[in-house]
Amino acid sequence: VINTRVLLAKRPAPKMDESCFRLELIPLAAPGPGEVVVRSRYLSCDPYLRLEMASERFALDQPIRARAAGVIETSADPAWPEGTRVWGFFDWADFSVVPTSALHRVSADTTLSQAIGAQGMNGLTAWVGALDFGRPQPADTVVVSSAVGSVGSIAGQLAHLAGARVVGIAGSEAKLRHAVDDLGYDAAVSYRGAHPLGEALTAACPNGIDVYFDNVGGAVLEAVLPLLRPQARLAMCGSISRYDDPSSTAPDLSRLMGSGATAQWFSVHHHLHRLPQVSAAIGRLLVDGALTYVETFVDGIEHAPTAFLQSLHGDHVGKVLVRIGDVN
Ligand SMILES: NC(=O)c1ccc[n+]([C@@H]2O[C@H](COP(=O)([O-])OP(=O)(O)OC[C@H]3O[C@@H](n4cnc5c(N)ncnc54)[C@H](OP(=O)(O)O)[C@@H]3O)[C@@H](O)[C@H]2O)c1
Repeated sequence: VINTRVLLAKRPAPKMDESCFRLELIPLAAPGPGEVVVRSRYLSCDPYLRLEMASERFALDQPIRARAAGVIETSADPAWPEGTRVWGFFDWADFSVVPTSALHRVSADTTLSQAIGAQGMNGLTAWVGALDFGRPQPADTVVVSSAVGSVGSIAGQLAHLAGARVVGIAGSEAKLRHAVDDLGYDAAVSYRGAHPLGEALTAACPNGIDVYFDNVGGAVLEAVLPLLRPQARLAMCGSISRYDDPSSTAPDLSRLMGSGATAQWFSVHHHLHRLPQVSAAIGRLLVDGALTYVETFVDGIEHAPTAFLQSLHGDHVGKVLVRIGDVN
């Protein structure tokens, strides 16, 4: 079997483009004891990979390694038979040789794509940030940036289900419409609109902001700070505006001192023990129709670089996944 892999050809310095990646066709290795070959079905396009690619954590001329879901093709571990549906951190490749100690089973009531999206670490991230740290109350105004992305779309809807008034921030008119019409946001404003974001937020949040779920950092966070109410909660999830722009600066949060605000930075990796319960709860909300989750698929491993670049800057809504083959 010939395996197609996507290698990191050069570091994104300063900007990332397709020349950072290279395709390689190589004979597939056999699994050693305690290993399996996984046939990947979905690769997750996650913004943090942009940071990894710029750092020594990813080696040059080696495959990108990222969250993915698939099916065991060949096994050298009797506890993990062929055909088992799994997710883990696999190569950007049609096939990956993986130690079974690094595998997670995908339950029968979860699709492979959602196991690495709404019912996976994206859903858990949204849950921890929006509910545990945001603690939204019915009278609260909650603002979510990158409001229609994979994490943001779930965070905003969870806050809405808790009874809060939810305002989204996104880039394009189409995304603003999607936020209100499809995801149930009470209002949505653009950080790239005709009016400065601060003015648009002031109009959309007449009582100020009680909770801010930050996916973006930078100038968007800067515009939110003056509107925060006393005792506001900030769930500091990510700073995507800075990942591809090392020159951008972070606002000085020490100015919140005296307001009683709390800013909680968090990593989903510290909350993985809760994944089964949160995954099941989100699964129920999806089945009940209480939660909307949109997936955008880009077909073929050879298009993984394009999909990743689009996920950072494109017009997609929801989760972007590279799809390989047609089994779910
Ligand atoms: N803390 C954790 O453990 C954890 C776990 C997972 C993810 N995260 C973080 O959560 C955030 C969201 O992740 P995701 O996977 O759901 O990705 P995502 O929100 O779908 O990210 C892509 C979107 O980010 C927006 N964006 C890109 N550059 C921007 C800029 N300069 N200013 C404002 N918006 C910008 C774009 O939307 P527009 O068209 O609206 O610009 C783009 O479509 C990321 O910051 C990620 O690093 C954190």
